[in-house]
Amino acid sequence: MEREGSFWLPPQSSTTAHEIDALFYFIIIVSVIIQIGVTYYMVKYAWKYRRRSHADRPVDVHPNKWLEISWVVIPSLLVFVVFFWGFKAFVSAGIAPDNAYQIHVTGKKWLWEFEYPNGTTSVEDLYVPVGEPIELIMTSTDVLHSFFVPEFRVKHDAIPNRYTTVWFEVKEEGTYQVLCTEYCGTAHSEMYAYVHAVDRGTFNEWLRTGGGNDNLPLNELGASLYDKAGCQTCHSVDGVSGTGPTWQGLWQAARPGSEEGVADANYIRTSIVNPNAYITEGYEGIMPAYPNLTDRDINGLIAYIREINGDWTAADSAAAAAPADSLAAPADSLATPDAEPAE
Ligand code: CUA
Repeated sequence: MEREGSFWLPPQSSTTAHEIDALFYFIIIVSVIIQIGVTYYMVKYAWKYRRRSHADRPVDVHPNKWLEISWVVIPSLLVFVVFFWGFKAFVSAGIAPDNAYQIHVTGKKWLWEFEYPNGTTSVEDLYVPVGEPIELIMTSTDVLHSFFVPEFRVKHDAIPNRYTTVWFEVKEEGTYQVLCTEYCGTAHSEMYAYVHAVDRGTFNEWLRTGGGNDNLPLNELGASLYDKAGCQTCHSVDGVSGTGPTWQGLWQAARPGSEEGVADANYIRTSIVNPNAYITEGYEGIMPAYPNLTDRDINGLIAYIREINGDWTAADSAAAAAPADSLAAPADSLATPDAEPAE
């Protein structure tokens, strides 16, 4: 899909982008014209009246009344134009149309979480219907974040203990990058998300299935959640230490001080549900809670951690694919005593 931006700016992919851009260009062009004029006369007279010039020194003159008036009135008018134009764009960007579709957005270190009116949630992937006004009701669980979609010309802070709103209407289907533009700590620069603008039918289908993880085997569900729920921001699976401990070698590793003593299923479950229950030595207790993960999601993450540590077999996948009641088994059923001892 080709979306053409200009030399200066990304494509205008929302219905309000052109107004912001027009104001931007107006300010740039006026500034450049004034800059060229001022610089021209400054250089010209600096040369003409340099100390050793033989040019006549000017005699005292009475100020030119119209010149004086013009350089007061014209810049003042320009400033008023910029103010009212900017104010109008600011207000229209801040007040959503009455029929806007509302989605809650939560910024947390370091991911974006989205909650739709029917209870469906997603992390780092915001699905919206194309051609309809979307209002985002934003907040943060920890520090200031800022939700920025360059192609929509939409940027607004997400503030803890407070709601802020912003809206947009996407003009064409596609995927658009979301950035965090408020420095919020270690993984600020990785706090990405994507807006997926799709047609109404696709959107309804996506909403109904909640992103469509229902039928995945547990280990694949976990692998998908590792990206979608934002775990990968802090936890690597290749042994590299991030903001949080790597998951490589985690399964059944010694965890002195915890109730379980080792990183078994109960330990991992507790660490997801109540992240500050145990803090691994050498790390800070900065992980947010994930109240939107279901039991099955947590089972999936445990399965994925087992898988990357070589403790997940095809038989486990088959068992996980068995009837629904076995999927709903409590997490501790995975903490089987026959699990491999820690190395
Ligand atoms: Cu969140 Cu920067």
